[in-house]
Amino acid sequence: MKLLVTGGAGFIGSAFARRRLAATSDELVVLDKLTYAGDRDNLDEALADSATGGRLRFVHGDIADADLVAPLVAEADAVVNFAAESHVDRSILAADDFLRTGVIGVHVLLEAVRAAMAADGRPRRLLQVSTDEVYGSVETGASSEGDPLAPRSPYAAAKAAGEMLVQAYHVTYGLDTVITRGANTFGPHQHPEKLVPLFITSALQDMPLPLYGDGLQRRDWLYVDDHADGVAAVLERGASGDVYNLPGAGERTNRDVTAAILDRLHKPWSLARSVPDRPGHDRRYAMTGARAAALGWRASTGFEDGMSRTVAWYRGHETWWRRRRDAAWDAYYERQYGRRLAESVEA
Ligand code: NAD
Ligand code: TYD
Repeated sequence: MKLLVTGGAGFIGSAFARRRLAATSDELVVLDKLTYAGDRDNLDEALADSATGGRLRFVHGDIADADLVAPLVAEADAVVNFAAESHVDRSILAADDFLRTGVIGVHVLLEAVRAAMAADGRPRRLLQVSTDEVYGSVETGASSEGDPLAPRSPYAAAKAAGEMLVQAYHVTYGLDTVITRGANTFGPHQHPEKLVPLFITSALQDMPLPLYGDGLQRRDWLYVDDHADGVAAVLERGASGDVYNLPGAGERTNRDVTAAILDRLHKPWSLARSVPDRPGHDRRYAMTGARAAALGWRASTGFEDGMSRTVAWYRGHETWWRRRRDAAWDAYYERQYGRRLAESVEA
């Protein structure tokens, strides 16, 4: 297959690209805007490897650029869309880019698939990578694919809107689409703004770890390679028009996650600080996984094992994460955490 992988220079997209190139003879074109969150260095290994480099092409650009996207979609057999602004806290500070990429960008991709199919009669599957956050906070039980969407952050609302467009194009124009809803993902190559790498890279520098509110919010953590493999399973075997939850293998409170990181780094709990909560903070996410299990996929990396691998990776890749904790990062950090940390108390 020839795959167009949009957002493939980011965290999960680059893991998908690496694993896909290693496991298949597919040819991949990665289209990525290289926002602060994306970097070609995430693809360096795959580009340099003689077994995979010849089957990977990188194109720098925006999924909302229709002229750029049209020929790339025309030459592909399928499109896997990872491209998004992906951080809830940044969506609370300013949501414009979340909507531009998550709604307009998705629409441009759908239109390009429709036009390509009309031109040569060849259907192209579009897989939209979505998130458990579209269900909103789930205090008890677990969300199934048919449950109503109730997004509560601008990020989640943009992701839900993207899904709605994809479903509408499936129904109205008969596009071959599938959607995945992955759980909170962690692992190597994740930008240090997210909880797990923020706390690892901060603890390594003996900086405070800002836990929002009481820290008892729960997430079902999914290791990045499992997420990438779940996307591949749905791409290959998912039923057209269907949605697939990709749950994790370990529900943990944010306090549990913090302790797991500090233990591995032999750092004291006193680094953890309780700071004023995120507005509209979802208390818990949890999903059923029967539909993806029927395709033969389930998360196989446990939380503890995944966390050990993740901590080891960040320890061994200081240049990688320091590059991302640059001057622009400092400005974001100050805006997001400056006042919070000044008001922090013992966690
Ligand atoms: P990420 O921020 O690491 O990567 C996103 C990538 O998309 C970056 O490389 C960025 O440069 C690129 N991008 C952004 N806007 C673009 C545009 N307009 N055109 C082209 N490229 C663009 O995010 P991630 O964590 O790898 O998430 C990937 C996808 O998975 C997203 O759609 C996200 O919503 C979804 N998801 C993430 C998680 C998670 O926990 N990280 C969980 C479930 C679903
Ligand atoms: P995050 O990695 O931002 O993912 P999401 O908000 O998409 O679930 O955050 C995971 C959890 O960690 C979430 O409950 C918010 C919390 N959190 C903190 O307590 N402090 C932080 O500095 C960050 C970034 C997140």
